[in-house]
Amino acid sequence: MGLLVLCMAGFCLLLAFVEGASGIVMPIPHEYGRVMIRNFSEQAGLGAVRFDHWLHRAFYTCRLCHVDIGFAMEANATKIKADTIIRGFYCGSCHNGTRVYGSKKIFAACSLSATPGEDSRCGRCHSAGKEIRKEYDYALFTEKLPKEKGWGLIDWEGAEARGFIQPVDFLPGVSMVRPPLAMQKDFSIASASRDWMFDIIFSHKKHALWNGCEVCHPDIFPSVKKGTLKYSMFQICDGQYCGVCHDHVAFPLNDCQRCHVNPVRR
Ligand code: HEC
Ligand code: HEC
Ligand code: HEC
Ligand code: HEC
Ligand code: HEC
Ligand code: HEC
Repeated sequence: MGLLVLCMAGFCLLLAFVEGASGIVMPIPHEYGRVMIRNFSEQAGLGAVRFDHWLHRAFYTCRLCHVDIGFAMEANATKIKADTIIRGFYCGSCHNGTRVYGSKKIFAACSLSATPGEDSRCGRCHSAGKEIRKEYDYALFTEKLPKEKGWGLIDWEGAEARGFIQPVDFLPGVSMVRPPLAMQKDFSIASASRDWMFDIIFSHKKHALWNGCEVCHPDIFPSVKKGTLKYSMFQICDGQYCGVCHDHVAFPLNDCQRCHVNPVRR
């Protein structure tokens, strides 16, 4: 068993080496899921923008941001501009100075005519290279949340199940009321090399809670018939299919056994 785990752990590292994929690094909890957005701000003389998933995903579902608001699931691909934000899109869907979360007003984002007094507000997002005291400190914010064994990343499913977080899935004025789609059954994905790899149990129910259906279908998984699509661990480690989220925001790929759980049936 120990040898098997060792072999498995080496697999993605090997893939990373062979493929030159950059994804496989040992995750640092407070940096895991961080995106530095830097298409335009540096030329404008401001720091690049730091966006932390650990904070935002505690408040909202993935679906709300990646479907309703329309952020790409790829760093810097959305090409967010200050004037789009000011018109109430992207970060400005929430950070407009009037929208509330709970009973608290969310601080506003960009302004094209910033007065000096507003500078500290700009720095809350345009924070790269600055020593700015953030209102939300990782250690404090996550103190009570359950953690995974190993790297100590947050156990988001546990946090949700135990009621520590209740991610909001509807943004008035942005989201549309939709009839709920029929939930799909959990299914097992048979590993190609099933004599030594464990089968995977994929839970639609657990994924739909965060992602809805539209995050995955049709963009990441175009087929809607199980088994039509063929993909391998190589492609996953390269950031496709399951690897779009796992290794970036959802739990990392080095955690082999969280996916490969089902004992091999011979
Ligand atoms: C996010 C879930 C996930 C994680 C984590 C994961 N795998 Fe996979 N793995 C898959 C899926 C999905 C397949 C494809 C199954 C199929 O259709 O054959 C797969 C397939 C494989 C295969 C079969 C050969 C191939 O390339 O398709 C091997 C071997 C494998 N994984 C090893 C590993 C190892 C070693 C780790 C840990 C370093 C790991 N996996 C982590 C989801 C995962
Ligand atoms: C408050 C909004 C918000 C929420 C909630 C959110 N995201 Fe994101 N996500 C973003 C933004 C903004 C980006 C960066 C887009 C850009 O730079 O163009 C991003 C980027 C990503 C990326 C690409 C990261 C990279 O390094 O390339 C992935 C993967 C991702 N998100 C997955 C998720 C998942 C999974 C969830 C739910 C667990 C989630 N997101 C929740 C706003 C959000
Ligand atoms: C769906 C709503 C929503 C979207 C979209 C959103 N945020 Fe937030 N964000 C929040 C809420 C709510 C808070 C907590 C605000 C508070 O307590 O004042 C927050 C807090 C923050 C903080 C923490 C500041 C601190 O002092 O700790 C930063 C930084 C931030 N957001 C950046 C961004 C950026 C950059 C984007 C766009 C790429 C973005 N947010 C998009 C809702 C959102
Ligand atoms: C809630 C987060 C947030 C806050 C607060 C914020 N910005 Fe931005 N801003 C962004 C994001 C995201 C971008 C896109 C960054 C990139 O791609 O480089 C951006 C880009 C910009 C740009 C780049 C040029 C352009 O046309 O897009 C300017 C200028 C700008 N912001 C000004 C400001 C000023 C001035 C303030 C303070 C009054 C401010 N911003 C506060 C999120 C924020
Ligand atoms: C995290 C990604 C993800 C989410 C979210 C998701 N799916 Fe899927 N879905 C998959 C994968 C992976 C497959 C298998 C695809 C394959 O093997 O080609 C699949 C297969 C299916 C199938 C075919 C099932 C079969 O037995 O043939 C249907 C129908 C489906 N999904 C509907 C939905 C609906 C409805 C939702 C929302 C409640 C949803 N999916 C959410 C990833 C997802
Ligand atoms: C759209 C983003 C996304 C994609 C694509 C995705 N996942 Fe996930 N997955 C998540 C999120 C978010 C969670 C919640 C836990 C977390 O964030 O660490 C999760 C949790 C899981 C869990 C733990 C839940 C459980 O059943 O106990 C497994 C296993 C898993 N994913 C496997 C997969 C496999 C296999 C694939 C590909 C077939 C896949 N995921 C594709 C986002 C995604």
